[in-house]
Amino acid sequence: MSLRSAAWFAGEDLPGFLHRASLRATGLSQAALSGRPIVGIANSWSELVSCNAHFRGLADAVRRGVLQAGGLPLEFPTISLGENLMKPTAMLYRNLMAIDVEESLRSYPFDAVVLLGGCDKTIPAQLMGAASANVPAVMVPGGPAAPAVFHGRRLGVGTDLWRYTDRLRAGQMSEAEFAELEQAAMPGVGHCTEMGTASTMAVLAETLGVALPGSAAIPAGDARRYAAAEDAGTRAVFLARSGPRPRQIVTRAALLNAATMLAAIGGSTNAIVHLLALARRSGAPFSLDDLDAAAARTPLLVNVRPAGEHLFEDFFRAGGVPALLRELEPLLHTDALTVTGHTLQEQLRAPASPDRRVIGTLDDPFGAPGGLAVLRGNLAPDGAVIKASAASGQLLRHRGPAIVFDSVSDLAARIDDPALPVTADSVLVLRNAGPVGGPGMPEWGQLPIPAKLLREGVTDMVRISDARMSGTAYGTAVLHVAPESAVGGPLAAVRDGDLIDLDVPGRRLHLDVDDSEIRHRLLESPPRTFTGASGWARLYTGHVLQADQGCDFAFHEPEIDADTTPLPT
Ligand code: FES
Ligand code: MG
Repeated sequence: MSLRSAAWFAGEDLPGFLHRASLRATGLSQAALSGRPIVGIANSWSELVSCNAHFRGLADAVRRGVLQAGGLPLEFPTISLGENLMKPTAMLYRNLMAIDVEESLRSYPFDAVVLLGGCDKTIPAQLMGAASANVPAVMVPGGPAAPAVFHGRRLGVGTDLWRYTDRLRAGQMSEAEFAELEQAAMPGVGHCTEMGTASTMAVLAETLGVALPGSAAIPAGDARRYAAAEDAGTRAVFLARSGPRPRQIVTRAALLNAATMLAAIGGSTNAIVHLLALARRSGAPFSLDDLDAAAARTPLLVNVRPAGEHLFEDFFRAGGVPALLRELEPLLHTDALTVTGHTLQEQLRAPASPDRRVIGTLDDPFGAPGGLAVLRGNLAPDGAVIKASAASGQLLRHRGPAIVFDSVSDLAARIDDPALPVTADSVLVLRNAGPVGGPGMPEWGQLPIPAKLLREGVTDMVRISDARMSGTAYGTAVLHVAPESAVGGPLAAVRDGDLIDLDVPGRRLHLDVDDSEIRHRLLESPPRTFTGASGWARLYTGHVLQADQGCDFAFHEPEIDADTTPLPT
C-alpha cells in the first residue's frame, strides 16, 4: 500500500516543501527522508512513573530496529500515567492518554507506530488510541521490575504490601519493620511484579496479537527486553508498507482469545474494563457476557500471585505467553491475525517445554474454571464482576447485613471505629466510587477489614462497590457495579442492615428489599451532580460510560473513526 506519510512529504507544492523543510530543520538529511516509512515511537517515559522510567533506552532499541529495516524513526512523547503517584487514580486519565495517542497518530505523518507502555493504564490507553487512529501499531510492553526481597521472601509489589499493611494494622508488625520494608519495597524500574493489571495487559496485548510473540513478560532489566524492542521497530517498518492495521487484529476472535487468556492467568479485573473499551474502539462486538462465558470454561493455568504463588518473571522463565497459548489452543480462535502478519495458529508451531510449577495444563490446572464471574441482580442490573480466584471459597455464597459507606472519606473515618456495628458476616458496601462518582472509578474496591475484626483473626469479608480493585489485590470483593450509585444505580438505595445475597455460582447479586421500596429510596436520594467540576473533571464526568461499556467516552464513535485518510492541511 502507498505510504500515508506521502500525503505530507510527496507533494511538489508549498505544503510538501514546508513539511520536508520542517523535518530538515531537526538535522535530517534528504536521504533520511526520501520515501522511507515513518515509524513513530510513542513514548510514555516519565520520571514520575517508575514503571516506565527505562523507556528512553527502550526507544533507542526501537530506533535501531526501524533504521535496520530502512524506516525513519521519529519519537514523540505522550502523557504518562503512573498508578502510584496520580490522584485520585490514573484511571481518571486513561481516556485522556488514549486521546493523546490517537490524535498524535491521526494528525502527524506516521506510517506505523511502536507503542511503549508499562504502568498499568498506559498499555490500554495506547491500544485504544491506536485502534481509533487505526495506524499500524506494535506494542512493546516495558516488563516487570526486579522483585523486592524482604526477610528472605521475594515480594509482589502490591499483593504482599497489602498483606504487610494488614499485619501492621493488626499489631503483628512493628513500625520499625514496616520502615525497613519501605526501604526494600521497590528496588528498581519496571512495572508491578505479580499478575497485576500491568502484567495482565502485557499478556493480553501479546494474546491479541498486537505485541510480538514472547515479548510480554521479559523483565524490564533483561537484555532480551531491548532486543524485543528492536524487533518491534523492524516489524513496524513492514507493517507500514503492508499492514495489518489494529482493527484487522483486534477483532471479536482476538478479544475472545484475550478473555480466555485473562481467565487462564488469573488476571486483573481492571482488564475487563480495558478490553470492553478497546472492543468499542475497534468496532468489535464484545460484552461482559463474553468475558463470563470465557471464564466459565477456562481453568487457572498460571501459578502467579495474587491467584498463585510465583511472580511474573517466573512466568517468563517458565515459557511465557507462547507456552501458555499452546496449552490453551483448544479454547482459542487460532485463525486470528497478529502483528507478525501471520495467524495465531502459525505461532503455535514452535516447540515448548514449560515449567510445570508455573504453567499448568487444561488437564492439570492450578484452579477450577470460573475464576472471574459476572454477577447480575437488582443490585447490579448492568452487571458487576468478582475475581473468585482471589476470593474466599466460603464467602462465594453469602447472605449478610449491609454496612454502608457513602464515600471513601466516610469509609476512612469510620472503618476502624470500635463502635461500628460490624461482624465478620457483615457486607461492607462502598458507593460513590464509580466512573462518575470517584471520579475515575478508583481502586477502592478492596475495602479494608475493620481493625477490630483483623485482631479477631478475620482476613476476608464480602465487600461490594462501584469501584475497581488493584490487579494485585485479593479478597471477596464485588466490583464495577453498574450502573453506579452516582448516576442513580441501586447501590444508592442500600441502607445499613439491609440483607444482601451474594451467589457467585448462581451469578447473582441481590438486595433483599422490595423493588417499590428501592425505587422510593432512589427518588429520595437523587443522583449526585458535579456542579463544581471544571476542566477535565467536567469533560470526564459528563461523557464517561459505565463500567459495563469500558468507561470510555460516549463521543467516541468507532464507525466514524475508521477512516485514517489525513485531512488536508
Ligand atoms: Fe505501575 Fe503497578 S504501579 S504497574
Ligand atoms: Mg494497579
